[in-house]
Amino acid sequence: MTSPHAWPELRGIAYGGDYNPEQWSRETWREDVALMREAGVNLVSVGIFSWALIEVAEGVFDFEWLDELLDLLHENGIAVDLGTPTASPPAWFFANHPEARVIDREGRVMGFGSRGMASHSSPAYREAIVRYADTIAARYAKHPAVVLWHVHNEYGVPVGEDYSPASVAAFRIWLQEKYGTLDALNAAWGTAFWSQHYAAWEHIDAPAIAPSVVNPAQRLDFARFTDHQLRACFILERDAIRAHADQPITTNFMANQSWTTDLWAWGREVDIVSDDHYLWAADEDAHIGLAIAADLTRSVGGGKPWILMEHSTSAVNWQPRNIAKRPGEMKRNSLTHLGRGADGILFFQWRAGRSGAEKFHSAMLPHAGTASRVFREVVDLGATLDRLGEVQGSMVQAEVAVLWDFESFWAQDLEWRPSEDVAHAAQVRHFYEQLWRDGITVDFALPGHDLSGYRLVVVPAQYLLSTADAENLTRYVESGGTLLVSFFSGIVDENDAVHIGGFGAPLRDALGLTVEEFLPLRESASHDVEWPGRGAFRADVWQEDIALDGAEVIARFTGGPGENGPAITRNAHGAGAGWYVSTRLDAVGMGVLMGAVYADAGVVPASRPEGLEVVTRRRGGTDYVIAVNHRDDDVELAATGVELITATDVDGTLTVPAGGVAVVRTTAAS
Ligand code: GAL
Repeated sequence: MTSPHAWPELRGIAYGGDYNPEQWSRETWREDVALMREAGVNLVSVGIFSWALIEVAEGVFDFEWLDELLDLLHENGIAVDLGTPTASPPAWFFANHPEARVIDREGRVMGFGSRGMASHSSPAYREAIVRYADTIAARYAKHPAVVLWHVHNEYGVPVGEDYSPASVAAFRIWLQEKYGTLDALNAAWGTAFWSQHYAAWEHIDAPAIAPSVVNPAQRLDFARFTDHQLRACFILERDAIRAHADQPITTNFMANQSWTTDLWAWGREVDIVSDDHYLWAADEDAHIGLAIAADLTRSVGGGKPWILMEHSTSAVNWQPRNIAKRPGEMKRNSLTHLGRGADGILFFQWRAGRSGAEKFHSAMLPHAGTASRVFREVVDLGATLDRLGEVQGSMVQAEVAVLWDFESFWAQDLEWRPSEDVAHAAQVRHFYEQLWRDGITVDFALPGHDLSGYRLVVVPAQYLLSTADAENLTRYVESGGTLLVSFFSGIVDENDAVHIGGFGAPLRDALGLTVEEFLPLRESASHDVEWPGRGAFRADVWQEDIALDGAEVIARFTGGPGENGPAITRNAHGAGAGWYVSTRLDAVGMGVLMGAVYADAGVVPASRPEGLEVVTRRRGGTDYVIAVNHRDDDVELAATGVELITATDVDGTLTVPAGGVAVVRTTAAS
């Protein structure tokens, strides 16, 4: 479903955050709007956790405070992203419908006093969310403050999988629709193993905790089912709103931090993609994780501009050690999101809360008030974004795609795999980091997508690969593409059943090899890989025994269980080439490998100082070059045009200050 409005009616880049006025007095509201104006805030998300204070008893609505608030915001020129608070049902809901509580995999019934406790399969919950969405949309669809609808909050977090009776009943129906017959289900799940054969649908359960590992095909289907149930709830609310309202509708994703939603499917259901991103403080290169999230968010939205719905001005409150952002870091984070396609920069939250579980979470207006570094930076960021309004609507350019397939990741990360050191997230990060350091902007894609527009497609781990998708990748190579595939790819089909013909058999034509045996390494083991003429590199985690079928050996293991065997290969196939790497190379090895692959693909890495992140957005003949300097010293960037934040002409060289940012409007490179 598409909305008549592709983008909220706002001037320039959206700026603001979650606003929870129900926690404050009317006097504070008036102070809030004055300070929002000072900070340049033009959009706030309201009502995301307000269910109990709006539907005060089942079917009894009190809109008085929200009426007053929306009018106040509108009078002050602040637009509203109006939420449905269905991520946090009120106490009356659970009192009236105790059966709607979530049960976790260990069989524990979730209690009240937190958020996200309701089963997405519960008929009572579904009835309640539709009633709420319908009622609030009917009331505010025409309110001039409302420019966007924000359904729910972060589907899948904290409740994704649910093992309640309602969920199990819905799972059986979902399976009947998917398989039609028990014979088909038994075949797909491989139930001849461990005597799991089913003779009646009612015998099938959710894959709750069991004495040993539960059937992986059953778990994979339960992951698909969970995603389906969550999305069905979104669609119910969206359609209830759409019956009254024309504004675009979104829900905030957690691109690379939630594992229960297949965001490729979700991207098709929302009018605008929005995402929440929080730095993982223990990660010293957390800004690279941020770039992955931003690229993934843009990609699941088909490349269109998106909204950063939440990030933090400084520390969060839910990590083991909550590290405050350093001066300038919030602006760098914001400009990285903007550079990678975000046309809205919002925070959790406007004003720091006094009570509740999140009182130590940072905010735009901290407990310290306006005389604080954070608030000064918030005002400064608002002014910066105000000067970048013309960037809105321009599109990110990418020549390289990295595959990102949630279904494959769900399957790969189940138990009893050859090595626990091959978790999908680390594999993606390993390749992405090198691309980031080489200044190459990437899109993420599925193996079944049309990849013909990319010079290079990187496959960090595509454990689950259907025959049809393998054929798509093979055709991509045949018609001139360069494919780089890492170990543990093309191993199982859609049912987590091993492909016949050797590991990786579906990619045999593209890669010119199959894998006879995995040779995972001990935890601290590493061995050399030698690339004649290019040197020797360390490699760890994995080796394998490869059966060559046409591929040329580029580099070999000089130690370890795979000694003398191929570590890197290249296969000329049709008009393109399929590269394969059967181990995890160290940073030097990755640099050399990727350099060779870029040359093969015709991709030119940027020659810039390490730590200067540069992304280009384009509209027609105009490029916007967004530069973020993660270094402690000033760096120079070759550019000609106008630097928009300082409104200064740039003639050949721009100095990006230590820890600073710059945006240059320039003529598009052809
Ligand atoms: C998000 C959530 C917000 C807030 C925030 C704190 O995941 O959507 O409501 O809890 O985390 O970092």
